[in-house]
Amino acid sequence: EKGGYDHFMLKEIYEQPSVIKDTYRGRLLANQGLIKMAGIEDNLERFLNAERILIVACGTSWHAGLVAEYIIEEFARIPVEVEYASEFRYRNPIINKNDVLIAISQSGETADTLAAIKLAKERGAFVFGVCNVVGSSISRETHAGAYTHAGPEIGVASTKAFTTQITVITMIALRLAKAKGTLSNSDYHRYLQELELIPEKVQDALLTNDAAEAIGKVFQKSSNCLYLGRGYNFPVALEGALKLKEISYIHAEGYPAAEMKHGPIALIDEHMPVIVIAPKQGHYDKVVSNIQEIKSRSGKIIAVVTKGDVQVRELADYVIEVPDTSDALSPLITTIPLQLLSYHIAVLRGCNVDQPRNLAKSVTVE
Ligand code: F6R
Repeated sequence: EKGGYDHFMLKEIYEQPSVIKDTYRGRLLANQGLIKMAGIEDNLERFLNAERILIVACGTSWHAGLVAEYIIEEFARIPVEVEYASEFRYRNPIINKNDVLIAISQSGETADTLAAIKLAKERGAFVFGVCNVVGSSISRETHAGAYTHAGPEIGVASTKAFTTQITVITMIALRLAKAKGTLSNSDYHRYLQELELIPEKVQDALLTNDAAEAIGKVFQKSSNCLYLGRGYNFPVALEGALKLKEISYIHAEGYPAAEMKHGPIALIDEHMPVIVIAPKQGHYDKVVSNIQEIKSRSGKIIAVVTKGDVQVRELADYVIEVPDTSDALSPLITTIPLQLLSYHIAVLRGCNVDQPRNLAKSVTVE
């Protein structure tokens, strides 16, 4: 049942090229310049009239929500707010009739997310679900939605659910951008084509497995780890850190790279591994300066870079090369080596990768 892999988590990491394709199949029609998602088409006016979009989720799904904030605001120019469902539901939030609330949940059973949906419905908002489990409570409780087609995710640590959530969100952002005319025609078509190429590029990014294992061997005894990224790769840094802590029990924190000098830089010494997500697109030069700041304090730098990178290679202790893609789609690629790194470190430490201590696959109590 693990398909020849040692763990479900590894199997699920390797399934990503095919499940991302399953998720956009029939919906992304790049040659025709179309995105077709029934849940969006049927409710297009609600989305176009939305004064803002609220996103609620927990854990990894919340990280996908952060990526959604960046991409929906950039492409469709609709204000987006992302909240932990548990905070949102208990703070008497302002919810207007014109708001669209998007709930993101792999299991579709997360208690706090479900409660946030009920609250938003009571206050008249339109609620859209992005779930993986067909017929789950959240998929039933929402007005409309779009399923991810990740297939069953058995490993407690979420991997393929995350990348398929981002795939759905990217299609939503593109569809809304097309309706609103907020992306130029050429950019719109370029993104459709780029998205279609993502499964191949994820396949290519999986070739970082050996590098991730080798780097894992060096850092398996670490007790702390810092993950840094900017822009679209800030949520990826958070997700990288969450993956590491939940399965290897190494304390890890994700930060926007520029926030480092506002606190966490104090932690940096020769014992601190710092994983920096530094693809060529995006805020590359800014990230390079952050890397220099870490280096001058003797931090150990592990950088995720675009193939062919020279500048970061000179500064970093270890580099992991991934294929190039546009900034907005990069989380789908840069996440892959971070999943693999966490996996190998956890295995090397003898941890129960698929069922980490104290964690449940679906959190049905608050
Ligand atoms: C992390 C993880 C959790 C879930 C969170 C939300 O790897 O699996 O953080 O992402 O419990 O779960 P869903 O998406 O089912 O609502």
